[in-house]
Amino acid sequence: MTKIISSISEFIEYRRSLPHSMTIGFVPTMGALHLGHLSLVEASVKENEITIVSIFVNPKQFGANEDLSKYPRDIEKDIKLLITKKVDIIFTPEYSDIYPENYLTYTSVNKLSRLHCGKSRPGHFRGVTTIVNKLINLSRPDFMYLGEKDYQQIIVLEKMMTDLNIPTKIKRCPIIRETDGLAMSSRNIYLSTQDRINATCLYRALLLAQESYKKGIYSISRVKTQMADLITKSNGLIDYIAFVDKDTLKKEKHLSPNTRILLAVKIGATRLIDNMSL
Ligand code: PAJ
Repeated sequence: MTKIISSISEFIEYRRSLPHSMTIGFVPTMGALHLGHLSLVEASVKENEITIVSIFVNPKQFGANEDLSKYPRDIEKDIKLLITKKVDIIFTPEYSDIYPENYLTYTSVNKLSRLHCGKSRPGHFRGVTTIVNKLINLSRPDFMYLGEKDYQQIIVLEKMMTDLNIPTKIKRCPIIRETDGLAMSSRNIYLSTQDRINATCLYRALLLAQESYKKGIYSISRVKTQMADLITKSNGLIDYIAFVDKDTLKKEKHLSPNTRILLAVKIGATRLIDNMSL
């Protein structure tokens, strides 16, 4: 039976009641669940005795001009989906309990949080690390499931876990895509019909890079130009295309098996991200 808990004190009490021997998987989300989220949930349910899913749209990771007020919310539908997946606990805390008046404490991972998406979204990763640190303190899971869709988020959170000696292990889950390659995202519903067609340019650009690499083209500037052309032809506005080391997120000089390509592109008014290894 799936239990839904909103109160933090009730959640702490529930967590205390779980026997030490049980393995606990945790899937943090902001709701508006799609098959990408559900793939993480399925992995956790399969691999653990208890699965906790949190749903909390965390205002501290949205910038002042971002989409917090219109971020999609459908808690009833989310709950139904999670019940069909046999999740044990759905944790839906209130803003005022997570960040009561006079809240002062933040967790931030320097340097890594300022690269790539952090450059375009100052404060974003500070919001992510703060909420995830809090949710981990509450749920004390053995494993936390994260999607590679948000690749930089995984690297930043892994660093936080190491630096703060948090014993929870991160399980990375692959990107789930629509049949035409668009990475599933709660934000895809913002796309108009034409934008939705154009939005496949992120995936197509990544495939192009992969193919070039297979053909023996290792020059980043050459591949980047090809990708940029493809994206621009689909009316995408490039925020960044970065060729980075998959572990450090530092920019690479040449394509190599360690390269991860990260990109952020605006399609219409919607900012989309995607990434791929070579
Ligand atoms: P949210 O965007 O709701 O995503 C929750 C989790 O689902 C993240 O780990 C994300 O990478 C994963 N996910 C989203 N789309 C996916 C896809 N197409 N394939 C695979 N995994 C996918 O990420 C957040 O929320 C927040 O930053 C959070 C970690 C919950 C902190 O507030």
